[in-house]
Amino acid sequence: MKATVFLGGGRITSALLAGLRLAKYGQPIVVHDRHSRKLQQLKREYGIVVEPDLHRAVESARLLIIAVRPDSVRDLLKEIGRRHIRRRLTAVSLAAGIPLSTLGAALAPPVRWVRAMPSPVCRSGRGLTALTFGRGLSITARAEVRDLFALVGSVLEIPESRFDAFTVTYSSSHGYHALAALIEAAEALGLDRKSAHLAAAHALADGVAAWRAGNLPLDELLQEAATPGGIAATVMASLDNAGYKKIVARGLRAGLRQARKNAQL
Ligand SMILES: NC(=O)c1ccc[n+]([C@@H]2O[C@H](COP(=O)([O-])OP(=O)(O)OC[C@H]3O[C@@H](n4cnc5c(N)ncnc54)[C@H](OP(=O)(O)O)[C@@H]3O)[C@@H](O)[C@H]2O)c1
Repeated sequence: MKATVFLGGGRITSALLAGLRLAKYGQPIVVHDRHSRKLQQLKREYGIVVEPDLHRAVESARLLIIAVRPDSVRDLLKEIGRRHIRRRLTAVSLAAGIPLSTLGAALAPPVRWVRAMPSPVCRSGRGLTALTFGRGLSITARAEVRDLFALVGSVLEIPESRFDAFTVTYSSSHGYHALAALIEAAEALGLDRKSAHLAAAHALADGVAAWRAGNLPLDELLQEAATPGGIAATVMASLDNAGYKKIVARGLRAGLRQARKNAQL
């Protein structure tokens, strides 16, 4: 029986393995990484099979997941390509910014490519994964990829032209970053650490939960939470005057530039 094989046993692989274990994923999983310490740890934590030999790992794959950093992708694919792959194989790249054209040029048919963008939130089974499919994938192969990521959260299919914009917008780091900034600001006002965490986490999570409940559109929720002339309205106006929206937009543009740099790697 062929396995789902992860090349790269780092952060996102660990999160996906945790989510898949939670979902009681039934297929065999093999992980390859150049650090045996990481492999042993993943084996201990998730009971996966480790394969220190790259080519043996690829040979054992039904689904091949590329989970190395973007600057490692080219060398990895070059090494894989030294032994010609002669069977149909679905390869899923998690590498931010690297286009299907580059992936397909490095490993051509019968390898068929998919790009996937999960987040480490898939650890809890409540993540979201964006997918974009390359040419030549059968309906069955597409369904297999969708089904895999559906085990760890929602799945969204988007065209590749929007994939990088989605990637920079969607990172769960935005939530953690905003949370950290709000906690730090609250502590600077004299709030104790525990209360600062509680207040900031509720402010962000409850706001998103209320919007998700779908009863009111976002602009109405904003109005409801901010009495004119009140404290929340004053805070928002002050943030906006200080360039809050521009700063967020600048951050996303920087992320998009990095994605384009990754494409050149
Ligand atoms: N982390 C996230 O939240 C996230 C979310 C979505 C997508 N992604 C994408 O997923 C990919 C992996 O990210 P990550 O954060 O998991 O990276 P990571 O923690 O650095 O893990 C990558 C692992 O792969 C190893 N590796 C690199 N080249 C290798 C090779 N040729 N042979 C064997 N092992 C090799 C690395 O070793 P070295 O450290 O020695 O290089 C490292 O152990 C990236 O392309 C990223 O864009 C990440």
